[in-house]
Amino acid sequence: MQTRVLTGITTTGTPHLGNYVGAIRPAIAASRRPEVDAFFFMADYHALIKSDDPARIERSRLEIAATWLAAGLDPNKVTFYRQSDVPEIPELTWFLTCVTAKGLLNRAHAYKAAVDKNTEAGEDPDAAITAGLYMYPVLMAADILAFNAQQVPVGRDQIQHIEMARDIAQRFNHIYGHDFFVLPEVVIEEQVATLPGLDGRKMSKSYDNTIPLFAGGTNQLRDTVMRIVTDSRAPGEPKDPDSSALFTIFRAFASETESAAYRRALEEGIGWGEAKQVLYERLEADIAPMRERYEALIARPADIEAILREGAGKARAIAGPKIAELRDAIGLRSMSAIATVAATKPRQAVKASRPPRFASFRDTDGSFRFRLFSSEGDELLLSKSFKDPKEAGAVQKRLKMLGASAATLISLPRSLVLELDDEPVATTPDYADDIERDEALNYLRAALDLLVEQEKSA
Ligand code: TYM
Repeated sequence: MQTRVLTGITTTGTPHLGNYVGAIRPAIAASRRPEVDAFFFMADYHALIKSDDPARIERSRLEIAATWLAAGLDPNKVTFYRQSDVPEIPELTWFLTCVTAKGLLNRAHAYKAAVDKNTEAGEDPDAAITAGLYMYPVLMAADILAFNAQQVPVGRDQIQHIEMARDIAQRFNHIYGHDFFVLPEVVIEEQVATLPGLDGRKMSKSYDNTIPLFAGGTNQLRDTVMRIVTDSRAPGEPKDPDSSALFTIFRAFASETESAAYRRALEEGIGWGEAKQVLYERLEADIAPMRERYEALIARPADIEAILREGAGKARAIAGPKIAELRDAIGLRSMSAIATVAATKPRQAVKASRPPRFASFRDTDGSFRFRLFSSEGDELLLSKSFKDPKEAGAVQKRLKMLGASAATLISLPRSLVLELDDEPVATTPDYADDIERDEALNYLRAALDLLVEQEKSA
């Protein structure tokens, strides 16, 4: 069973050490585990909430994409895309908006902080606050729920957003009476849950206290490290590692043995200048090889564009069927389906009367195949050809255990493909258009769930 891991970065600035250790590094490490199905993306719709500078957004999208790749993301293994290339995300945002309590959004940290700032300044509480900022958590919930992500690796500052995504998912599931969404779990690397910036506060674009990962090269890395604020203890005086941003940053990159040696050096009174030089050298050892790859990548934006477009195709193949399922659930259905359903029996009645069934047959070329028929006798799937009837039987058996939520159904313009282990195993007939195809998707999903129920009760 694979675990779906998903995370994103807002494209408003140059990636910094906090983004790297809080999100990029753990996410890429997770993506290398065979049991992980990873989704990483550029949150460029979120960026519009924070910046109205088109050049900055454009540059940041490129820099962040190049950073993911330079840090080791393999686009063949991971679904890597831009939020704005997946129209299903804003569509889902609206569905979720309509079930989200306004009071929940009133409690979001970023919105509350903006209100508090206005109130302190004697302004109207909502002065200069956009509806975009207010809706931020709902868009983020849609990012996660559109893909039924199970785990979301982030820094500590994002915990509230993941909790809100869970609340919103639960509410939607409750209202529409089915577990449409998996409840995502936050994954925090405790050691680096919040990396401090130059001034000791959380490293953040908004505080202007960041240490850039690649921008400005090794010289800027060194210059910025030298600007980390320290206390006034002179060389020879013992320093307190636990209250020093230098130590926290060092520890986020170093092994336990290295960190213990650095702690000892601080306690024994190493001068701040020398301690900063040691930190810079430790960072540079990890960053230099990645920087070289980053510079090569950023010089080829067209290649990055191609990678992201391909990623968007993969992402839409998952989000598209999900949205089709949700549209059906909330009543945004094709009108021609009303006629079909009315002309036949009500769905529940059909469900109870006859289950979907498989029919195996031998094709003209001697191979073995099967069809899946709906309760009403309509053909839902035709399998590929198998040399051995046992193989065909094994696939049918797996379909009886799979269920709709675990099925991988790829939408083509007028048909659907069912995959097992990334291999196409069956296709639907061709439909007149995408609306009919989406209707068929819902029937197919219902049939897959019925097969499981049937198997359990057999
Ligand atoms: P963003 O762009 O502010 O930050 C990207 C990731 O970097 C982490 N991070 C840090 N971790 C440790 N120490 C720090 N000083 C530090 N600064 C940033 C953040 O926690 C985050 O994991 N809303 C998100 C982007 C987003 C998203 C999503 C994330 C949009 N949709 C869906 C996960 C899932 C944000 O603005 O992150």
